[in-house]
Amino acid sequence: MSDTPTTPEALAAAQQAAAAAQRAVSASAPAPKVDRTHVVEESYIYEAPVRIWHWVNAFAILALSITGYLIASPLPSVPGEASDNFLMGYIRWIHFVAAYTVIIGFVFRIWWAIVGNSHAHEIFMPRIFSRQFWHGFWHEIKWYAFLTKEPEKFSGHNPLAVISMHFLFVWGIVFMIFTGLALYGEGTGMGSWQYEWFSAWLIPLFGQSQDVHTWHHMGMWVIIIFVMIHVYVAIREDIMSRQSIISSMISGWRMFKDNRTDTKE
Ligand code: HEM
Ligand code: HEM
Repeated sequence: MSDTPTTPEALAAAQQAAAAAQRAVSASAPAPKVDRTHVVEESYIYEAPVRIWHWVNAFAILALSITGYLIASPLPSVPGEASDNFLMGYIRWIHFVAAYTVIIGFVFRIWWAIVGNSHAHEIFMPRIFSRQFWHGFWHEIKWYAFLTKEPEKFSGHNPLAVISMHFLFVWGIVFMIFTGLALYGEGTGMGSWQYEWFSAWLIPLFGQSQDVHTWHHMGMWVIIIFVMIHVYVAIREDIMSRQSIISSMISGWRMFKDNRTDTKE
């Protein structure tokens, strides 16, 4: 015969008996131990100048991309008398203000790579002669492609981030600065430093002015693709990695979600 209660009364009695048995077990069992072994591991990695530069640079590049796009594909028309409008003038002015912000910021960032902490020069000098670096690089490719289950911990940038920041961002922005200043020198004219240092050799190297426009324009798409992947990865890693990501570029501190001691440099 089955022990299953068949009437509502029998069911209620069985539930009461089960609850009483549970209380008895809880009372005799030792109190659950609080795990005090997990201490949040953290280290200060991105110094204030790097963080300020990162966000100023990001907003300047946003302004450059919007205004650059509008320089290449101007709005169809503006209302009213042509002489009342200076729209393209303002668009170009914002482009140039943001451009000088990026240029001065980048020169400052190079200086900080020399005087800052050990993470400050990571994106300028990838450790390409280190076996561990390439091991980490391939591991990150597998991790981003969902081919491995566990991410590694890195106190600074991971090696894949370093390589993409170095080739797409550092060289990308150098390219934009050089081609941008060469185009700017056409406006400031012969005798200006922009013309003598950049336009004079760079425009003939590319062919003519329109070629430099085209390359400068294509450079924008390289930077935009970098930023799209960069933001996707920053959000993805913030959720899936074993460490803090976006908050680290705000506070400077890297925090780890577990304290197993396998952190890479
Ligand atoms: C135009 C837009 C942006 C550009 C060009 C850019 C570029 C860069 C560069 C060059 C670095 C390396 C910093 C260094 O070591 O000096 C970096 C780091 C970082 N960026 Fe951006 N960034 C942009 C926007 C953003 C946005 C919108 C976010 C947030 C979602 C973000 C999140 C981060 C984070 C979290 C790091 C540190 C990554 C790590 O800890 O390994 N960035 N970014
Ligand atoms: C991430 C950085 C930058 C982006 C995304 C960007 C984007 C663009 C784009 C798309 C154009 C239109 C090109 C065309 O099709 O004719 C343009 C034009 C121009 N850019 Fe940039 N640019 C950047 C940085 C710079 C810098 C650093 C300078 C230096 C001063 C600069 C100076 C100029 C000049 C002078 C023009 C031509 C304006 C005109 O013909 O009216 N740009 N930029």
